[in-house]
Amino acid sequence: MTPNVYNTEDIYILGIESSCDDTSCAILKNNILLANVTANQSIHEQYGGVIPELASRDHQKNIVPVVDTALKKANISLSQLSAVAVTRGPGLSGSLLVGLSFAKSISLALDIPLIEVNHMQGHILAHFINENEVVSCLNEEKTSNSSQTTSLKKPNSAIKPSFPFLCLTVSGGHTQIVKITDHLTFDLLAETEDDAVGEAFDKAAKILGLPYPGGPLIDRYAKTGDPTKYKFPTPHLKNNNYSFSGVKTAFLYFIQEQTALNSNFIEENLNDICASYQAHLISYLLKNVLAISKETGIKQIAIAGGVSANSGLRKEIELLGKKHQWQTYIPKFEYCTDNAAMIAVTGYYKFLKKEFCGLDATPLARYEI
Ligand code: KG4
Ligand code: ZN
Repeated sequence: MTPNVYNTEDIYILGIESSCDDTSCAILKNNILLANVTANQSIHEQYGGVIPELASRDHQKNIVPVVDTALKKANISLSQLSAVAVTRGPGLSGSLLVGLSFAKSISLALDIPLIEVNHMQGHILAHFINENEVVSCLNEEKTSNSSQTTSLKKPNSAIKPSFPFLCLTVSGGHTQIVKITDHLTFDLLAETEDDAVGEAFDKAAKILGLPYPGGPLIDRYAKTGDPTKYKFPTPHLKNNNYSFSGVKTAFLYFIQEQTALNSNFIEENLNDICASYQAHLISYLLKNVLAISKETGIKQIAIAGGVSANSGLRKEIELLGKKHQWQTYIPKFEYCTDNAAMIAVTGYYKFLKKEFCGLDATPLARYEI
């Protein structure tokens, strides 16, 4: 249960995320999101992947305007902040360093606590973001002959996962199945032993000649393709861990063989290739979730991370959930990929427990959940 903080002073948390190629800042008032502003970096498209040095340079350019815009949107001043929460890792060291240094300077200048956040925990706690929705509704206090509508501000009431729940966290750098027993207790039950599923999407897209990041494009082409047309191998690991490097290589050989026979193979079959490959990755992801759900008896199942924006995965987990009586939780699109709202929410729960860190905290490129 969240402690009742409304009787005490309001808590304002500034969240900063800069672990990869998105510079993002969010502001929470208590556990309600007031602003979430993200600057995406398009410079990497031409290179087919994120170039770390260019990413950190762009974070330096973006961070001040992004924080400034978030403060304006939230309509608060720096002096109102109670704490600053920042992604410490995992991620690209140079990118993390920009956000962490900026957060430290805010903490030092305003004399407010610094809270370090694990990016993967943040992805999972995106399920606890409460938006301050402006809803248009009939004014219930209207006089009997008035039918005026009015705008009321109220937090969205989307159902949140209850504990314990399992989360399939799927991003560009990670593929994990995590058991969450409270807002700050995470148990890693399975993970990839090599590449992440986001990488498997992006590398396949690159082989198909699509720009970076290719995951969303594969998703788009897959919508009108035949998911049963081509088959790919599934690795069988003893535990419920994943491995995606073999699938990626099998995809490369498959495309090389087919284009040797027909140079127009990709153009003529793009939708079917994307649909078959995507369906394969999804069924592999869900196979292990099903196994762990059976082993643990947990039927509260969430997905999180960039790949949870995939329309096929969102649909399939619902279908599987119906079949196995799961309660499934799917984040809003804007909170799947990297954002600071998830960092601010994690910071909020750490603030309640007074889990602060020192100004000597360094970025952690690798950071266990
Ligand atoms: O969580 P995220 O924004 O960054 C990391 O923490 O890595 O995830 C980015 C990953 C990329 O691999 C991107 O291709 C993938 O999420 N992604 C998708 C979709 N949207 C983003 N993959 C498949 N389908 C999508 N719709
Ligand atoms: Zn991420």
